Amino acid sequence: MRLITVLLLCLAPIAAAAQSFAPARWADGVKLTELTDRNPDPRIVEIDLTAKLADVQIDGKTVHAWTYEGGIPGPLIKTQVGDRLIVHFKNELEEPTTVHWHGVRVPIEMDGVPELSQPDVKKGESFTYDFVVRDAGLYWYHPHVMSAAQVGYGLYGALLVEDPADGVNVEDQVTLVLSDIGFDAKGRLEPADSGGSAGMVFGREGDYVLVNGRRRPVLHARPGAPQRWRIVNAAKSRFFYLDLDGQPFTVIGADGGIQERSITTDILLITPGERVDVIVNPKGKAGAPLTLRAMLYNRGYGSVEYRSVEDVLTIEFTKETPIVAKPVTIARSLPVPSIEGATKVDVVLTLPPMKDNKSEFQVNGVPFWKAKPYAARLGEKQLWIVKNDSDWDHPFHLHGFFFQVIDEKGEPVRPLALKDTVNIPMKTTMRLLVSFDERPGQWMFHCHILDHADGGLMGTVQVGPGTPQGHTHKMP
Ligand code: C2O
Ligand code: CU
Repeated sequence: MRLITVLLLCLAPIAAAAQSFAPARWADGVKLTELTDRNPDPRIVEIDLTAKLADVQIDGKTVHAWTYEGGIPGPLIKTQVGDRLIVHFKNELEEPTTVHWHGVRVPIEMDGVPELSQPDVKKGESFTYDFVVRDAGLYWYHPHVMSAAQVGYGLYGALLVEDPADGVNVEDQVTLVLSDIGFDAKGRLEPADSGGSAGMVFGREGDYVLVNGRRRPVLHARPGAPQRWRIVNAAKSRFFYLDLDGQPFTVIGADGGIQERSITTDILLITPGERVDVIVNPKGKAGAPLTLRAMLYNRGYGSVEYRSVEDVLTIEFTKETPIVAKPVTIARSLPVPSIEGATKVDVVLTLPPMKDNKSEFQVNGVPFWKAKPYAARLGEKQLWIVKNDSDWDHPFHLHGFFFQVIDEKGEPVRPLALKDTVNIPMKTTMRLLVSFDERPGQWMFHCHILDHADGGLMGTVQVGPGTPQGHTHKMP
């Protein structure tokens, strides 16, 4: 289909022959809709995407949700690395919206932030997103207008940028969009401002945990056979702390694709906005399903006390003889970054005591609506020293660029991985090394607990020449 695939097939027939072990229709329980590519050019994916209100079925109830193309999540958009993606977006919602391509190194005009990138797309209007996907990996898309509300109401979807030469020899692959949604007995969405200021500080979580829009879906597996899960946490506040009954996850990639080498873990934390690429070899017997659970994770006061362990999905086994899989090996030679010559930038995150019965998060002493942009030159390397001085974890996201995490000694954390979102645990400092490239613009950074973002925890960095724009996010 693609030239590169054809070449690979000629040159390395063995590498292309990963074996499938999964039973037929093994992933039907988590099937995502895909859109038809209406462009005949093999290097261009061109699709139509409409945001609209729609009734969706969740856990046997009809929920009147905000959707892309009538479903939660929105359709899976699939491209190959280097492709051009053209999305004809139409807004049929009552409210203005935009589409932000989380993690993708787009030009600023395509970043979906009102005023910094484009005007917001009002009811009945359209906007065409058109950019090249430069990096393989799992990304996602969501609005950047009233983000906490719009994402919470159902507007998010996955963008999978595949690299046929990524060297991962596991055939059975699935994309899992984790999220949650809140609604009442009549299927009415939980208001985005429920709980007032306290709700903002806690970060609102919906009661219904979803995988690809379903509650506790089933995957089928031959015991021990490898499955590749590409996971994104699209929830507006919920952390997913995943446990597969103690069975290991082999992590092979992060936000920006494959990492330096794999690591194995028994419990997998995925905070809002983050992606992980993992291999699992679920072990078990026919008739004894295995459950993937979201365990309790303390991301701040009350976030454990008022919540419960959730079943996320179930794996049912076939009667076939178990596979004893070889460990998966991956290797990506990412350049080892050095903090030499990097400009230091201090970012302090705080939550001052309530004033006039209202809370606001601050970055360097001001909430977003009073903040001035940071500055960076084109090509400049900066070390962001992000100090979380609050009692809440904050998954910190930078638009448009990857960064690498640096330890206290100034060394990069191994295995090397490209990140655009990383959790800064409460009362902790993390160091993020970012090289701004040739794309100018005023780029956002914010906590991806979207209630925190709307509650003040956002900022921008003006990269390269240009007059910084005024802020568009008003005080809620
Ligand atoms: Cu998912 Cu401003 O980002
Ligand atoms: Cu936060």
